[in-house]
Order: sequence, then C-alpha cells, then structure tokens
Amino acid sequence: MKLSTVSTVPQVRQQLDAIRRGGKTIGLVPTMGALHAGHASLIENARAQCDFVVVSIFVNPLQFGPNEDYQRYPRPLEKDLEVCERVGADLVWVPSREDLYLSEQRIFIEVTQLGDHLCGPFRPGHFRGVATVVAKLFNVIQPHKAYFGEKDYQQLRIIRKMAEDLNFGVEVVSVPIYRDADGLALSSRNVYLDAEERTAAPALFRALLAAKKMVEEGERDIRVVKDASMWILAAEPRIRPEYFEIVDPIELQPVTEIRGEVRVAAAIWIGKTRLIDNVGALSA
Ligand code: PAJ
Repeated sequence: MKLSTVSTVPQVRQQLDAIRRGGKTIGLVPTMGALHAGHASLIENARAQCDFVVVSIFVNPLQFGPNEDYQRYPRPLEKDLEVCERVGADLVWVPSREDLYLSEQRIFIEVTQLGDHLCGPFRPGHFRGVATVVAKLFNVIQPHKAYFGEKDYQQLRIIRKMAEDLNFGVEVVSVPIYRDADGLALSSRNVYLDAEERTAAPALFRALLAAKKMVEEGERDIRVVKDASMWILAAEPRIRPEYFEIVDPIELQPVTEIRGEVRVAAAIWIGKTRLIDNVGALSA
C-alpha cells in the first residue's frame, strides 16, 4: 500500500474507521520525528505484527521543560517521510500543535511512583506530558498494539502501566535499543553532538556495561558498582553525569541490595546535550 500523510484528527479517524471495519489490526509507532534506525526498528516490528501501521510524528510541547530544547528539536519532515515509506508504514500522522491541542489543555494524566526516580526529578512535568500526549494518540488511533523503545525505559514502563491502569485495551510492545557500532544508543539528539562530544559519548554505554558485568559476576553492593561506573564516566572530561541508578525493573525504585533482575540507567550531559541509556542485568 502507498504511504499517505494526514494532519487533522477527523482525517485520521476517518481513514482508520475504514481499516477497522475491514477487520485489520492496527499498530501505532508514536515518535517526535528526526527518525533514525532505532525508530525504523520500531516500525519494522509493527510491520511484521500488524496489518496496518501508523507512525505519528509530533514534537509534543507538553513534555518539554521551559529551558529544554523544544524550539531547536530537529524537524526534518521530508527525510522522515522517506524513512516511513522505506520501512513500510501505511499512514503517517503529522498533527500540528493546534490539531492535537484544540484548546488549552486542562486535563492531564498524573504519573505516581514510576516517575519519582531516574529522569523524573530532573524533568518535572515530563512524564505527565508524555503520558497525556500518548493517551491522546491512543484515543485517536485506538491501535491494537503500540511500539515503544527500551531506550526510554522509564517511559516504556509508564506507558505500559498507563495502558493497564486506564484500561486502554492497547498492547504495549517493547523493542530493544538500537545502537551505533561503538555502542552509543541512537537518539534524535545525537545530531547536537560535535565531533569531540560524539567521540566521548560511548563512555555512557561502557559505564552501563561495566555495571552489568559486575552485577552478573555477583557484586551485590550498589556503592561498589556505582563507583566503578562513575570512574569510567569521569575519564571523559566532557561528560557530566546527571544520575546513575540501579532500580528494580518494574516499579523503578532504587534497590538497596542487588538481587535478581535490575535495570541500570543513567543520564549524562555532554556540552548542551543530555543523553540517556540503560541496560538490564541479572544478579548472579
Ligand atoms: P522519540 O524520542 O521520537 O522516540 C520514539 C520512540 O522511539 C520511543 O518509543 C523511543 O523509546 C524509541 N527509540 C528512540 N531511540 C531508540 C533506539 N536507539 N532504539 C530503540 N528505540 C528507540 O519517545 C518519544 O519520542 C516521545 O516521548 C513520544 C513517546 C513520541 C511521546 O511524545
């Protein structure tokens, strides 16, 4: 099927009503555009599992803080549409701000506990903005399945719990992190990095891998694991760590002792760019 693009909510509803009447399964891949191979792998997963694949492209103002990069966030729409076409999306929904926020939004989704650690404290209001926009996307598209990357692990957990707690009836499917050859997780924000910053950036993944190795070799002391990883980050003078946490993979609360399955997650600043990454680890 040929790729088509729509912007308004009535347009997208009309197209999808016809698809639903035909008994087809609908897969949604929500994005903010500036699509890279990580996004492409989400779309490919949806393509393999659903009859009709919708990609949404919307830089959601509600999830950016006042001093964050909403204005300068990359918006290469033509290139994005090429990516969607190449990997086999059926419909790309590119709402304008007014299409999605018809009037001043007064009702929001409140995220408790799951937003208390990791990125939550550093980005007040972020997950409220993410949950609210994803709820809107779910309500308009009413997909059978929706695809989210493990790259944003906290976001993935929050959306999965939201779908469950608010009875959306949407199956949230997670997709592994897509990385460059040197380990750096692909991100739309990687384009902000200059050459030297790009060279320093893979230390984030190396630090996470070092933690994973220690956990899997039986280290139980959080302090010991964190210290070893912080040394790896400290070796790159351009990197300023924001957090480095070991949490339980479901509730995202910091663990007091390493036991069973954990998620190791970190955020760093390199110059003006904030990067996040995470790995799963199973204690020996
Ligand atoms: P965005 O950052 O564009 O990411 C869209 C989806 O792609 C998310 O589910 C994210 O986890 C996934 N993704 C990004 N980089 C990835 C990588 N290297 N490997 C695998 N998956 C990757 O996340 C958002 O947009 C927004 O918060 C959104 C959910 C669209 C709500 O506005």
